Amino acid sequence: MTTTHLNHWQGQSGQWQRLTSPLRPHQDDIDLFARALSGHTGPCLLFGVTPELVPLAKPLIAVDNNTGMIHKLWQDSPGGGHVVLADWLHLPFAPHTFDRAMGDGCLTLFQYPQQYATLFDQLLRALRPHARVALRLFIRPDTAETPEAACEAAFTRKIGNFHAFKWRLAMAMVGSVGPANQTNIKVASIRDTFNQLLPDRAALAHASGWPLADINTIDVYRDAIASYSFPTLSQMRDCIPASLKINDVLYGRYELAACCPIIVMEYCP
Ligand SMILES: C[S@@+](CC[C@H](N)C(=O)[O-])C[C@H]1O[C@@H](n2cnc3c(N)ncnc32)[C@H](O)[C@@H]1O
Repeated sequence: MTTTHLNHWQGQSGQWQRLTSPLRPHQDDIDLFARALSGHTGPCLLFGVTPELVPLAKPLIAVDNNTGMIHKLWQDSPGGGHVVLADWLHLPFAPHTFDRAMGDGCLTLFQYPQQYATLFDQLLRALRPHARVALRLFIRPDTAETPEAACEAAFTRKIGNFHAFKWRLAMAMVGSVGPANQTNIKVASIRDTFNQLLPDRAALAHASGWPLADINTIDVYRDAIASYSFPTLSQMRDCIPASLKINDVLYGRYELAACCPIIVMEYCP
């Protein structure tokens, strides 16, 4: 039996154990986030409830709008962190609340560029001057591969896990299908294209070496109404407000890390 997930995060919470890097932070990312935030000790805003990031900052306030994800993933942090049920596009905090902010893949969930601008507006309002911000991004390559090339790589065991493949397929769809400046993609269309190009999941599991249960995690995208966005790095730089000075762009060394940089910024009002 399959379930329709209009908010696919409700479904993701049920299969969280099957999601791995690059969708979730790799140990390299955790080390880079810690490095990026070092020297700042004031209150930290966390976009989402990413368990790997919770221990990195105290005091911590995590914000997520999905009760399923909160119940599944939130563990009270020893440093007295707490979680707030709210939308990142309407952050319920007084101005100048935070000395640090971090998030893992949080911009990908928004329409580029309008909702990126709203999120940055909300964030800047809540930051103290000279606050540090570290966000892991999902950035598509300047030169796109085709969806077919991503599938060929899967079938010849050149991709380590299904989630790396899923992101390559999504980035390939954005980069090679439709208008050149297209950046947003409907989540449901990633699954539709996958089903069209790779209809035999058992054959894919055999050829790729990936567990069928990992491949089937794509079904959480069925009928999803959300969009994802995969800008290039220069598109990303273009939408960062001038008062957020980019200090660094850090990369891990895991599969697809070149598409998953952590951008480190300082709020200079
Ligand atoms: C941080 S993101 C990306 C997943 C991330 N790579 C990880 O490993 O945690 C996932 C979380 O964002 C939350 N979320 C999505 N859109 C949101 C929004 N507009 N406001 C608040 N939380 C949101 C979802 O409920 C989910 O818990």
